[in-house]
Amino acid sequence: MQNWPCDPCSDSGLVTLHGLTSATNFRYLYLFTRNFCVPGIHSMENLSINSERLWQSIMEMAEIGATEKGGCARLALTDLDKQARDLLVQWCREAKCKIEVDEMGNIFSTRPGKVKNQPVMTGSHLDTQPTGGKFDGVYGVLSGLEVIRTLNDHQIETSHPIQLVVWTNEEGSRFQPAMVGSGVVAGAFELNDIYDCRDADGLRFVDELSRIDYKGNKPATIPNARAYIEVHIEQGPILEDANDLIGVVTHQQGIRWYTVTVTGKESHAGTTPMPIRQDALMAAAEIALKVKSIAEVNTPSGCGTVGMFDCYPGSPNTIPGKVVFSVDLRHPDNATLEEMEQQLINFTKTLSNQCDTRVDGYWKYPARAFDENCVEAVHKVVQNLGFPYQKMITGAGHDASYMAQVIPTSMIFIPCKDGISHNEVEHATMDHCAAGCQVLLHTLLEISQS
Ligand code: GLV
Ligand code: MN
Ligand code: MN
Repeated sequence: MQNWPCDPCSDSGLVTLHGLTSATNFRYLYLFTRNFCVPGIHSMENLSINSERLWQSIMEMAEIGATEKGGCARLALTDLDKQARDLLVQWCREAKCKIEVDEMGNIFSTRPGKVKNQPVMTGSHLDTQPTGGKFDGVYGVLSGLEVIRTLNDHQIETSHPIQLVVWTNEEGSRFQPAMVGSGVVAGAFELNDIYDCRDADGLRFVDELSRIDYKGNKPATIPNARAYIEVHIEQGPILEDANDLIGVVTHQQGIRWYTVTVTGKESHAGTTPMPIRQDALMAAAEIALKVKSIAEVNTPSGCGTVGMFDCYPGSPNTIPGKVVFSVDLRHPDNATLEEMEQQLINFTKTLSNQCDTRVDGYWKYPARAFDENCVEAVHKVVQNLGFPYQKMITGAGHDASYMAQVIPTSMIFIPCKDGISHNEVEHATMDHCAAGCQVLLHTLLEISQS
């Protein structure tokens, strides 16, 4: 293990994790400091991120697209997304990184290492849900930046470069499907198919990408990287309920997205007798309830969501003739997810006496295990730091999920308040953010030096 100087900000030579000072955080203060610099001992194991700087960066980024309830609305490829990207690029330039942008608008910021190639990658996304929070994605991006800033503070030269990536349109809110920046790079989507996607106003993905000036030249192909490690809020209640500080993420569950179209017959609300109606909304409502029961039969892991719902022609006194809605099904076991899909399709067929139904699946992400060595690298770091942790799967999709298909990948989770995410009240504490970033720092160092 190479030796490095201690944090110059500390008189005693004791490296502390900034912000961990309140009494309630005493336990973690102990956990953080006991593995950190002690006077007279100088080693890379003692290296600490600056938690206040990380927190300030998260708060500054959250001002771009800030909502009244304290969240963020920064949809992919909007002017606000551009502002967030510009700020991140400015910060990365100040941190002396080399910036490249690929054909998908993914931004790569590289801090050089002793050798030129095979960077160790980290990253996440800056786009949010329409009523999103300050942390989903942003926390991972700014943790990567904080790692780079920390390495700069201590003038540490890593063996391999450290590369921070901002992936385009992870959320899939404005343009469906989700995770397309990493998905194109991994070869899961064709670049031109994604370029042709349109938002609800008919605007094309590629036109919006050019408009915000983030259609780069770098080919969107598989990176020649050593590994990809992403840190993210958990977005569920498991870590908080267990009082654990870190999730060592071992698997990504499977995800399937569908558009369901139900076609009935428009007719007068006051004159059409109930038995002869072909009411598309009533049939769609039955399907939506079936989505719920299909997921419930497969609890605790199964999930089923109807998140978008359009009813035509949209008049109080006309029986709806057409309904189009989205279905999101998830399960960690691919065979079970396949069964859930079959149950959905079979159920829609039982409604054929009322309406025509179509189920168009347009996105499948198969459940997958993360790379064993990367999971173990995170695991070892967490154990060395003495943080309470558990191994877990991710229920949310992440860019790491596509990276896992092409390079060794794993993830680090931290708790979020009440397990709430995709909501303006989404919150993670400064200490939890610091802990995850600290794990990221040491995992990236470990993989870079090994
Ligand atoms: C990404 O946010 C997802 O849908 O899980
Ligand atoms: Mn996310
Ligand atoms: Mn999200």
